[in-house]
Amino acid sequence: MNKFNFLYILIFLAIGCSNETVEVAETDLDTTLLHSLKKSSLTGEVDFYAMPSGNEFKDIPNQDPKNPITYPKVALGNLLFFETGIGMKAKKEESMATYSCSSCHLPELGFTAGRFQGIADGGIGFGHLGNGRTINPHYDGTEVDAQGARPLPVVNLAYVRNPLWNGSFGSFGMNVGTESVWGVADPLTSINHENREGLEAVVTRALITHRQDINKELMDSLGYTALFDNAFHDVPVSERYTLQTASHAISAYFRTILTNQAPFQKWLRGEKNAMSDKQKRGANLFFTKAGCVNCHNSPSLNGQRFAAVGVKDLDQNGYLVYKTNDGRNKGRGGFTQKDSDLYRFKVPELYNLKDVGFYFHGASKKSLREVVQYFNLAIPENERVESHRIDSQFRPLNLSDIEVDELTEFISNGLFDPNLLRYKPYSTYSGNCFPNNDPLSKKDMGCN
Ligand code: HEC
Ligand code: HEC
Repeated sequence: MNKFNFLYILIFLAIGCSNETVEVAETDLDTTLLHSLKKSSLTGEVDFYAMPSGNEFKDIPNQDPKNPITYPKVALGNLLFFETGIGMKAKKEESMATYSCSSCHLPELGFTAGRFQGIADGGIGFGHLGNGRTINPHYDGTEVDAQGARPLPVVNLAYVRNPLWNGSFGSFGMNVGTESVWGVADPLTSINHENREGLEAVVTRALITHRQDINKELMDSLGYTALFDNAFHDVPVSERYTLQTASHAISAYFRTILTNQAPFQKWLRGEKNAMSDKQKRGANLFFTKAGCVNCHNSPSLNGQRFAAVGVKDLDQNGYLVYKTNDGRNKGRGGFTQKDSDLYRFKVPELYNLKDVGFYFHGASKKSLREVVQYFNLAIPENERVESHRIDSQFRPLNLSDIEVDELTEFISNGLFDPNLLRYKPYSTYSGNCFPNNDPLSKKDMGCN
C-alpha cells in the first residue's frame, strides 16, 4: 500500500460512513480502474492491455511465420531504418544519400515527422526536430516525396496487422475478403497475394515509395554485407541483399518498438504509483463514460476497425499539398472501392502522441485537448463526409471541462514512454548524418 492510499484510508476512517460512496470512489481509484479495464477488455482480463518487454521475442504477437524475429534481423533493421546511404533512387543526383525512413519517423517525436507532412527526397533542412524541413527549390512540387496524409507513428506496430490509414497492406486481419481489390487502386498492394503480414508487405512498399535501394554492391560499400549474411544465412545468396530481406529486417525491428515504459503500462504491471490520480481518473473515463474504448481497444489502444469521424483532410487545412488526388482522402473506401467504406480511417494507436503536435489523418488538430474536445462535442468538421457516413459511436459525451482535462492528461502523460531513444542507434555504418544528410540539415543538426 502506498502512503497516499494509507492517508485516504485514515481520512475515510475519520469521517466514517457518512459520505461512503464518494470516499470509495476517491480512495480506490485503482480498484475502480481495474474493474473498468476488466469489463472493457476483449479477453475479460486486465492483462489484455499489458505489452510484452520486447526482449522475449516469443511474446510479441502477430509475427509473420515467414519472418520470425531474431536478434541479427532486429540489429540490421534498426540500422537500415536510419541509414541515409540507401537513399539512392533520388529524383536528382544532388539528393542521393541525403534522406532515410527516419526523415519522417523521428524517435524524439513518437516516430512521426516534426511537421504535418513529412518530406524525404526533395526536401532540405531540418530546423528543430524536423520542423524546418522545406522543399528543395530545384524540385518541382510533384517530384517531392511527401504523402497526402500525416505520417503515422511507427511504434507498437506489433498490434498493426493492416498498415496505413486505409489498412491496405497485409493478407490477413481486416483484409480477409478484400482479395479482389488487391493491386487495383494501388498496384503495390498486389504484394498481398503473397500471403504476407502487413508489416513485411508495407515496408517493401515504403522502400520503393521512398526511393531507397538495396543490392549487394551497395551493401558491400556501406559495410552491411556481413550483417545480411548473419541475419539471412538461410536465404540463397542471390536473394540475400534485396528490398525483401531489408523489409524483413526492418519489420523485425519495428515489432520490438513498444512503449512499455509508459506510466499506464507500469501501472498495469503493478506499480500503482506510476500514474497520478488525475491520470487514473482520465483512464477510467477512457474505458467507461467517454466510450473511447469502443473503438480504441488493444494494448496499444488502436482498434481493428475503420471509422468515419468526419475530420478534415490534409488539403483542407491550409497546408501546401503536393498530391491532392492520391486517393487518401477517401480512406478505407479508396482501397476497397466500396461506398460504405468511404471516409473511414484506421483507429490509430494512442501512445507517445503528446510531442507530435498534429492530430488526425489531415492534421486538423494541434493539441490533444482539442482532439478530446472534438470527440466530446462530436460535431463533424468535414463537409465532404455526408452525415449518414459518420460512425454511430461518434456522439456527444457531455464531459465537463474537468473530465476533458483528466482524459487529456491520461493520453498525454499516462500513455507517454519517456525513453524511446533506446530504439535509436548511435551511428549507422555509412557514418552519414541521420535522419537527414543534406548540407542544410547537417548544419541544423550540428552534424559533420
Ligand atoms: C516522406 C515521409 C515518409 C518517409 C520517408 C517514410 N514514411 Fe512511413 N509513413 C509516412 C506517412 C505519411 C504514413 C501514413 C501514410 C498513409 O497511411 O497513407 C506512413 C506510414 C508508415 C507505416 C504504417 C504505420 C501504421 O500504423 O499503419 C509504416 C510501417 C511506415 N510508414 C514505415 C516506413 C518505413 C519502413 C520507411 C522507410 C522505408 C518509411 N516509413 C519512410 C511517411 C513517411
Ligand atoms: C467511433 C470510433 C472512435 C471512438 C469512439 C473514439 N475514437 Fe479516437 N479515433 C478514431 C479514428 C477512426 C481516428 C482517426 C481519424 C482520422 O484521422 O480520420 C481516431 C483518432 C484519435 C486520436 C488521434 C491520433 C492521431 O495519431 O492523430 C486520438 C488522440 C484519439 N482518437 C483519442 C480518442 C479518445 C480520447 C476517445 C474518447 C473520447 C476516442 N478517441 C474515441 C476512432 C474513434
